[in-house]
Amino acid sequence: MIEKNKNCVIYGGTFDPPHLGHLFLAEAARREQSAEQVIFLPAGDPPHKKNKKITDARDRLNMVRLAVKDNPYFNVSDFEIKQTGLSYTAKTLRYFKSEGFNVSFIIGADSLDEIFSWKDPEYILANSRLLVLPRKNYNIDKILTKDKYKKYIDNINKLAVGRIDFSSSQIRERIKSNKRIKYMTPFEVEEYIVRKRLYLKSETVDQTKFAQIDNYLKNNMSDDRYQHTLRVIETASNIAGNKDYLEKVKIAALCHDLCKGYPESKLQRLVKNSNWPLKSFEYKEASLLHGPASAYLTEKKFDITDNQILEAIRYHTIGHPDLGLIGKIIFLADKIEPGRDYPGRGEIYKLALDDIEQAILKLTNHNLEYLMNRNIEIHPNLILLRNSILGGRNNNE
Ligand SMILES: [Fe+2]
Ligand SMILES: [Fe+2]
Repeated sequence: MIEKNKNCVIYGGTFDPPHLGHLFLAEAARREQSAEQVIFLPAGDPPHKKNKKITDARDRLNMVRLAVKDNPYFNVSDFEIKQTGLSYTAKTLRYFKSEGFNVSFIIGADSLDEIFSWKDPEYILANSRLLVLPRKNYNIDKILTKDKYKKYIDNINKLAVGRIDFSSSQIRERIKSNKRIKYMTPFEVEEYIVRKRLYLKSETVDQTKFAQIDNYLKNNMSDDRYQHTLRVIETASNIAGNKDYLEKVKIAALCHDLCKGYPESKLQRLVKNSNWPLKSFEYKEASLLHGPASAYLTEKKFDITDNQILEAIRYHTIGHPDLGLIGKIIFLADKIEPGRDYPGRGEIYKLALDDIEQAILKLTNHNLEYLMNRNIEIHPNLILLRNSILGGRNNNE
């Protein structure tokens, strides 16, 4: 919740993606300025970068929200993202001032150097404080000796924070070369990037893949498991109905247990090779490893690169609070297919044909009760998924 009438530091940027450097710097600036809060302001369509291809604004906004959620002094504003047309710092400043904010902007020394080419630079310089970050090849003191800055010198401060030596572009490059980005950005942001396959090419699904994979499974899976897979495909297809995503649902269902039954060491090796981030809970519990391992092998072995399919396979066991529709269908179908035997299963199946969210709620309630009665540890995702359906957090899907 953004609090008004307070000194705030506005930190604008494309945040494509946000990383620990942004967070470290924002917190350092807040402390240095004794500001009550930092408002992260993801750019909509910035005029200075109009020739560069940037990630969809909604994804960048979602990532910044995930990145800042654990700091009570950090907030996110979607003001610039919601603007139609190009957004300008002067317009943003007018808005925040009209809302009663006392504003400081974090900007780079490169931006300070070119600020007189922006729209209404005098208004910005007279009505806000600029917190300037050092940039290679820019000497802030030298820039400020120019006459045009002199009038505003009291409103321009150098930020005395250290240099952070990694950048969003470095993260994007690492992902493109299939390298992990652990500890460069918060866990949830890393997970979001991998889940949505950001910074990678997404391809359409080749319809001939189904027969090819089905044939492989028939020959390589135990009959019991293959029959379970067929029932999950049928259940998931019934829930999906005749929608245009039915083919994706069928492939996700077909591959969801691809690695189930593999020895623990093999599962661990597959997961280690994959880019899917895991917390220790999942890693130490062998029965949870086949989700991410199956997603990894589906991509590697059958060249399936669709993010909705891979996400559904990866989270079919533990769920995820932001699961997409295909993910929700597979999560449900796996647990309510007619081969499963527990009281209330048929009822949840019927409900799923009508209302997927309510069926998941009923299923998670049942699972939680089962796990609690047996004193079994509960993976947090199960609770987060349930909360997201009860409205505990915004679902941006
Ligand atoms: Fe499974
Ligand atoms: Fe399964």
